[in-house]
Parts: sequence; structure tokens; C-alpha cells
Amino acid sequence: MPTRRRLLFGVSGGIAAVKAPLVASRLVQAGLEVEAVLTSGAEAFVRPLALAALTGRPAWTDGDFMTADGAIRHVDLARRCQVALVAPASAAFLAHLAAGDATSLLVASLLGLDGPIYLAPAMEAEMWRHPAVQANVTTLIGQGVRLIGPVSGRLASGSHGLGRMAEVEMIVDAVLAQHQGALSGKRVLITAGPTREHLDDVRYITNASTGMMGLAMAEAARDQGAQVTLVLGPTHLLPPGGVEVVAVESASEMLAAVEARFAESDILVGVAAVADLRPSQRQAGKVAKSGLAHALSLEETPDILAWAGQHRQGQILVGFAAQVGLDQEAAMAKLRAKGLDLILLNDLSEPGAGFAVSTNHVLALGRKGLLGEASGSKRQVAEAVWGLIGGLP
Ligand code: C5P
Repeated sequence: MPTRRRLLFGVSGGIAAVKAPLVASRLVQAGLEVEAVLTSGAEAFVRPLALAALTGRPAWTDGDFMTADGAIRHVDLARRCQVALVAPASAAFLAHLAAGDATSLLVASLLGLDGPIYLAPAMEAEMWRHPAVQANVTTLIGQGVRLIGPVSGRLASGSHGLGRMAEVEMIVDAVLAQHQGALSGKRVLITAGPTREHLDDVRYITNASTGMMGLAMAEAARDQGAQVTLVLGPTHLLPPGGVEVVAVESASEMLAAVEARFAESDILVGVAAVADLRPSQRQAGKVAKSGLAHALSLEETPDILAWAGQHRQGQILVGFAAQVGLDQEAAMAKLRAKGLDLILLNDLSEPGAGFAVSTNHVLALGRKGLLGEASGSKRQVAEAVWGLIGGLP
């Protein structure tokens, strides 16, 4: 990771753009190198010269986009920056980004940027509530974009409501927390949720996992600055913003997703409750009831963590073991068989632990045995687990 992080600071058109120079100044003071990019709407509210003076860099506008000087400005910006913030993010900007409409330098640059994107929306409350705006927000969150605000307060029109841009301090703190967190610069791969192993198009083998613990692990890692990829089996829960989500259904799809990303990861945490068995063959359509018993021949699913254990090149590997009762010896055997550094053991029969509840209680076992235990909300347990991972030899 470069020692000095470069942040792409986008400004879109809205009255809150008058606060953009303050945001830029605070980010520069915090040690970030800031590349300001203004939309044409933003230029109506704030002068590029103000941002250029505060950042010590040119402030880019759409006038710099389609130039004949040989520079491919949006590609250059996307490659040079590791994180992006757009403040304010107007309703029009949200629509353009959600649609991948790269007609502005700002959206074109963001589409190519490989790193977290933070948006601080600002607009009238009626606009923010509108289903079209909310649909764009949902799309963007689904893509891993992180929102800061908006907050309730006085709006440009003089009315009060939800739509005011978050205060400058809150925006800067949210971006810096990511920049300075314990997992800053780490690439974390997490499997979560159940898998579905189809017998035919309508029937499958699965289990009661909801993905809640895996989502908590992803959210806590994100908040400590990690770049998180979540390989997520079928769940009704909404994944956290700011993480890349790869939706999968079966164990073999989950394995393929992990195989494709493992080499570039620093830490793999297998929280997924991968189905143990799958029908040997998936049939098309719906098998007639009379043929069902005959069709149901089963085989074991691939073991994703064991694959990782055999292909690791310095990655830290962490697993979860869901048991009925707490059998530390069985968990240690699992840790060794899969080549893990840490395994978190939980008892599905314990009230307030295991599947589909918002709390958990885990015992942590390292290669040399018991390391500790944690209980509380799944988020608190996740934070404790990340603390243990940070302390691994
Ligand atoms: O073997 P068992 O299912 O108890 O192991 C649990 C751990 O191994 C979990 O971390 C789970 O995500 C992982 N696992 C896996 N692939 C499987 C089965 C389990 O990665 N096929």
C-alpha cells in the first residue's frame, strides 16, 4: 500500500457544495492527497480554483474530460486514487452513478476506481424520500458504496427534514476511520450464509443459516478499514454497504468465487454454513414424486476452507465450527484438517447462540489450543474475533 493515500474527492451540484472546500481542507490536513473532481453542476456553486488552492493539485472538471492532450483523465484518476468521497452527492449524481452513466469525468472515474466509495447525499427531504432516489440508493448500496448521512436538519429551502448533508466533521471522520483502522489496507474475503444444493429446479438441500454472523464479520472488518469481499449464499438479509458482494447459490459456486479471489486476499474467513451433501446430479424441471427416492443419490460438497488450506500463500485462514455441544477436540481436529489458524466454536443448542439469533457465544481455538471466548451481539463477537485475528502469530 502506498504510504500516502490518494483520495478522489468528487463534488456534485447542490448548495451544500459550498462546504466542499472545508471538507477538502480537512482531508488534506489529515495527510491525504486529494484529487478534486467537479461536475458541471458543482461548478455553479464552487470554483475549481478554491479546491485547487486547498489541495495543491489541479481541480478537475468536465472540461478536462474529453481533451485532445493525450491524457485519459478518468483512467488516470481511477488508477491513482485508492478511495473516493463525493460530497455533496446530489440526486442527479446518484442517478448517474447508479446507472453507470459515464458522461461526466466524475462518474467515469468512479466506475474505474478500485476501492471504497463514500457518498454524502444532500437534497430536499421530498427528493430524498422519492422512490426513484431510494431505488438508486439501494442499487448503490448493493454495489458496496457507503453512505454518510444525510441527516435531519435545516435544508436550503428553509424547511426542516432528512436530506441535509452530514456535517463536515462527520464526513471526514467516516473516511479517516476507514483510512486508519486496524485492518486498513487488508483485503478480506468472507464466505457467509447457507448454500443450496439443487436436486431439480424447485427442490434443494440447505440449512438454517441466515448469514447474520458472516454479515457482522464483514461489517466489522469494513469499519476497521479492510477492503471486504463477501461471498454470500442465499439470504434475505441485506449485506452491509461498502463491501463487495458476490452472490452464490451452491457450494461449488462458492468455491469458484473463493478460488477466483483467494490469491489476492490477505485473510479468508469461512463463516458460511456450507451444505454437507448435494444431489449427485441436478435434474432440469421438477422430478415426478414417484421418481424422487430413486433420483436422490447424494455426494459430499467440496470443502472450501480445506481447498484454501492447500493453496495458501501466506493468507490467514479462519473457520467457524457449529456444533451441538462444545467439543474442543473435534474443533481442533477440524482446524488441523483444514489447515486453519483460528477456529470459532459455537454451540447451536445454547440459547442466544448459533443460527438465526442476533447474539452469539464462541470459543476461539488457535493452533496451540484455546485462545479465549467472546459473547454478545454478533457485531460485538465479530469485533472480538477480528481482535484475535489481529493478534495471531
Ligand atoms: O466441516 P465443518 O462444516 O464443520 O467446518 C466448518 C467450517 O468450514 C466453516 O468455517 C465453514 O465455512 C467451512 N466449510 C467450508 N466448506 C465446506 C464445509 C465447511 O469452507 N464444504
